[in-house]
Amino acid sequence: MARTPIMAGNWKMNLDHLEANQLVQKLAWSLGDLDHDYGKVEVAVIPPFTDLRTVQTVVDSEGLKIKYGAQDVSTHDNGAYTGEISTDMLVKLGCTYVVVGHSERREYHGESNELIGAKAKKALEAGLTPIVCCGEALEVRKEGRQVEYVVGQIDAMFAHLSGKDVASSVIAYEPIWAIGTGEVATPEDAQEVCGAIRRRIAELYDDSVADAVRIQYGGSVKSSNVVEIMAQPDVDGALVGGASLKADEFAKIVTYYK
Ligand code: G3P
Repeated sequence: MARTPIMAGNWKMNLDHLEANQLVQKLAWSLGDLDHDYGKVEVAVIPPFTDLRTVQTVVDSEGLKIKYGAQDVSTHDNGAYTGEISTDMLVKLGCTYVVVGHSERREYHGESNELIGAKAKKALEAGLTPIVCCGEALEVRKEGRQVEYVVGQIDAMFAHLSGKDVASSVIAYEPIWAIGTGEVATPEDAQEVCGAIRRRIAELYDDSVADAVRIQYGGSVKSSNVVEIMAQPDVDGALVGGASLKADEFAKIVTYYK
């Protein structure tokens, strides 16, 4: 089946709400001539929570087709959870996506596969689309265990998700050794693991779920390497970090097909 590519920019902890306004305006301008092609890809920005209202205002007032989302979400409903953000708050801000289980949250906040699965489930229940992150560390790659390691993450994260849930989700394969390092995975590396993820989804659920789920690659994606990565049969998009902070570079990445 034809899967609409999803090209998302994860801003991480960067850009205040004023800078966010500027970046989205510049991105919209850069993508302006895409009107006739926009159906080819989905474009999303994933700003810090503090910028979501600003992004919503720009997107709504300019009638942009740029989607947006958050970098994390609570498994709780509104209440006594200091510092957390609920799905309800993200929905009210017009979010489409929410990244869950980014390797930096696994590393700095000890997020487990089980917690990440619960966050994904909570997001789906609220009508949000989770971007569920997975990926191996360098030592795992050096031992050649990347496929079994990532498949183990998928098994654990999706233990309580239905086929319908997974078909509605996005999975982001982000080898940790490629994040922020400039050491982008080769297209073959990306295909090997993204293909293994899709095969595992087919085993856990069925072929229709495996065909429907979109799988992104993330880790040092740039306009210079995105075309080869997106040419891989099991890669349906990119989760872009540093390069998404520059409107013109991110616009080149999302228009890789041109
Ligand atoms: O979530 C995307 C991010 O982890 C990739 O970062 O800077 O290597 O594109 P970067």
